[in-house]
This record gives sequence, C-alpha cells and structure tokens, in this order.
Amino acid sequence: MSSASTTHSQIHRPSPTSVGTIVWLGSEVMFFAALFAMYFSLRANSPEIWAHDTAILNFPFALINTLILVASSFTAQFGVFAAERLQPRATGKSPLKWGMVEWFILSYVLGAIFVSGQVWEYAMLISEGVSLSSNSYGSAFYMTTGFHALHVTGGLVAFLLVIGKTFAAKRFGHKEATSAIVVSYYWHFVDVVWIQEDVEYGQKLFLSNCASCHGKNAEGTANGPSLIGVGAASVDFQVSTGRMPGAASGPQLQVKPVQFTEEEIHAMAAYVASLGAGPSIPDEAYLQANGNPTKGGELFRINCAMCHNAAGAGGALTEGKYAPSLDKSSPKVIFEAMVTGPQNMPVFNDANISPEEKNDIITYLVYLRNSASVGGEELGGLGPVVEGLVSWFGLLGIIIAITIWLGAKSN
Ligand code: HEC
Ligand code: HEC
Repeated sequence: MSSASTTHSQIHRPSPTSVGTIVWLGSEVMFFAALFAMYFSLRANSPEIWAHDTAILNFPFALINTLILVASSFTAQFGVFAAERLQPRATGKSPLKWGMVEWFILSYVLGAIFVSGQVWEYAMLISEGVSLSSNSYGSAFYMTTGFHALHVTGGLVAFLLVIGKTFAAKRFGHKEATSAIVVSYYWHFVDVVWIQEDVEYGQKLFLSNCASCHGKNAEGTANGPSLIGVGAASVDFQVSTGRMPGAASGPQLQVKPVQFTEEEIHAMAAYVASLGAGPSIPDEAYLQANGNPTKGGELFRINCAMCHNAAGAGGALTEGKYAPSLDKSSPKVIFEAMVTGPQNMPVFNDANISPEEKNDIITYLVYLRNSASVGGEELGGLGPVVEGLVSWFGLLGIIIAITIWLGAKSN
C-alpha cells in the first residue's frame, strides 16, 4: 500500500476516514470505561450477590468463547494483509492463498459463534434466575456484556458490508482496502475491550485482596514477594489451594479454605500474567492422568520422593517447614506446583520434565490413590523404611513372646 501511495502524493494527510474512526473509537473507550467503573463499584458494594452469581457463570465456556473472539482478530488481520496486497479473492484452496474475502468470511463466522455463545450464556443465566432486573450484579453484567455484544454485532454487519462492496466494485482498489482496514481496527478494538475487561476485573480484585502484601503494582513489599513474572500458573496454584491470600503465621503459609471463585482466580491470574511472562495455566491435555504410571513412578522417586516421600505422603523439611501430602492435590495443582516451585520446592520446567512426563507423574499419583495397597494393612503410605521398621518391631515382639513362652515351659 505504501509504495503505491507514495507515487501519488508527497505529503501524507491522514484520511478523514481514519481520523473519524480514531475519534469515534476514542469515545467508545470512554463509554466502556464508564460501564466498567459501574461494574466494579457495584461489585465492591455487594460482594455477597457477586460471589453467588459469578459462581453460576460457566467459566470454561466463557473462556472458549473469549479464545474464539481473539482468534477472529487474527483472521481479520490476515484479511487486512490480503487487502494490502490488493488481493480480494483466493487464488488457491490453501489459506496461504486466501484473499481478503475468505479471511473476512472466516472472521465473520467466528464472531457469529461468539455472539451465539453469548446469547446461549444469557439463556443459561436467565434460567438460573439471574436477569437484568434481578439485582445489581445482573444489571451490571448484562449492561457491560450486552453493549459489548451489540458492538460485536455491529462489527459483523461491517464485515458483510465490506465483503458486499468488494463484490460490487469492478476492481479492488485503495478505497476498498481502506474500508477493510477500518473495519479491522474496529474489530480489534472490540476484542481488546473484552480482554481488558478480564484484566481490569483481576486488577481490582488484586488491589483489594493482595496489594497489602504484594504492593499496588505487584512489585512486592516487606510482607510478600514481587509477583511480576511469576505467571498465571503461580496465582492459580496459590489461590486455588487456599495458600493465598496469605495469613502471616508460622514458617509456612497455611492451606486455608479457598476464598475466590474460579472466575475471580482466573481474572487475577490474567492480571498478574499481564505484568510479565511466566508459566501459564496448564493445558487440559496434560491433566488427564492417562499417561504411563510406571514411568511416572520412576520420575517421582528420582525428583520428588526425597521431600514428599515415595508414596506422596509428605514429610518434614528443615526449619519447621514441610512438604505436604499429595493425596488430595488435583492434577492441575500437581502440574502447577511443578512449573512454579512454591516456596522450598524446586521448579521443574519443561526442559527438566516434559509436559508428557508431568502427565506421567500425575498418572502415578492418581493411580496410588485409587489402588488398594498390596501386601496387607497400609501404614499411612509412609514408605519402605517405616513399614519395614514396623514389621521388624512387630516380628521381634512375636519372637520375644515365643521365647518367653518356651522358657516358661522348660521351667
Ligand atoms: C498477608 C500477606 C499476603 C497476602 C494478603 C497475599 N499474599 Fe501472596 N504471598 C505472601 C508471601 C509471604 C508469599 C511467599 C510465600 C512463601 O514463600 O511461601 C506469597 C507468595 C505468593 C505467590 C507465589 C509467588 C511465587 O514466587 O511463585 C503468589 C502467586 C501470590 N502470593 C499471590 C497472591 C494473591 C493473588 C493474593 C491475593 C488474593 C495474595 N498473594 C495475597 C503474602 C501475602
Ligand atoms: C526440596 C523439596 C521438594 C521437592 C524435591 C519437591 N517438592 Fe513439592 N513441595 C515442596 C514444598 C515445601 C511444598 C509446599 C509449598 C508451600 O506450601 O508453599 C510442596 C508442594 C507441592 C504440591 C502442592 C500440594 C497441595 O495440594 O497443596 C505439589 C502438588 C507438589 N509439591 C508436587 C511435587 C512433585 C510432583 C515433585 C517432583 C516433580 C515435587 N513436588 C518435588 C517441596 C518439594
């Protein structure tokens, strides 16, 4: 685009369309900021309704829907690249040869799935009794997400218009390419607003629950370490096991009842992840406990048993600290503990133990729980040494008893 336009004119004035779009998007940013402010103040004032209603929200579903919207931003951008090549239509079947129209149709389909998903989610919430007028949560939730959905729908109409115009125009020129670019700006905006909602929500939760120890920008204070770069996995691990928010007492933070919903934990994790790169929340594929338990057992004995004991029953460490028992840890928690290395535990990154091997370890630990112990009464799975000692003392007792009995007889 640039090489062609420089031959036309020397001085570049921004086109009225671009200026108009920027001014308009600016006003949109303020509009959404106002909506979010409402959402947050309501949340701060009525935490009880909030906790109940967010628990109803179907989180994995919302996450998939978000991913679909993010993907549509990428496909729209590929459409823009094609428009900049002045290539409206595909020159072959492979997506590498797709033109603007094909990419925009794909973006349209993804956007339409997002809106349908949103409608479906509304239907679910209404059937659970959360409606626009049911309480302040309902109003704030439907207002923000509803206005957002309207904007997405507007973007869908714009995609159709651009596609239609391309078919109507005799040749695909700069004017057509410019409208494609403007629509893509709008589409990215709609996408960013959606992500921003998650991050800002997380930041708000963080400020009220975690900043006292970790600092306003998670930079760390005397009472808690910096969280910049610890990653979403660390926040998910610490909060979903009830370790955080920390309560200062004793050498090791206690595991307490979990204080946040899954949605809130993910929002805080998204906020911390936005501050610096770190391990992310693990992929479901590695949490199925469908690996090789024998290999997992071997890896566990080499890497983990010295602290957690061969059967995962836990054990004492120095200075009053301890490695906890692993018989209740969920596959996700086991994976996250390995990639984040809480406290005295070392980090086992993907170079040390690959994600597949982590799945093997998870498989082994889950297998241990499900299998009844072989060889008689289990002794709390305390490992061969303890079990050996107990049998040793037990047998010794019997031998002594027999000796005394024999001695008594001979007298
Ligand atoms: C009372 C103070 C306190 C509060 C409140 C608190 N934390 Fe912490 N946090 C700590 C301390 C101390 C540690 C270091 C713990 C350790 O080494 O065992 C820590 C560690 C962490 C870690 C692990 C960092 C790493 O290096 O991997 C994460 C993540 C974390 N906190 C998140 C949170 C979140 C999220 C909240 C709010 C929901 C929160 N914390 C609230 C004191 C606190
Ligand atoms: C140097 C000792 C050490 C080694 C080696 C070690 N851990 Fe840990 N692990 C700990 C400590 C200490 C904690 C508790 C941290 C805390 O409370 O903040 C812990 C916590 C955990 C937890 C969290 C338990 C829960 O449900 O809250 C899991 C899961 C875990 N470790 C798994 C593993 C696995 C799997 C390995 C081997 C790949 C391993 N650990 C190796 C010391 C160790």
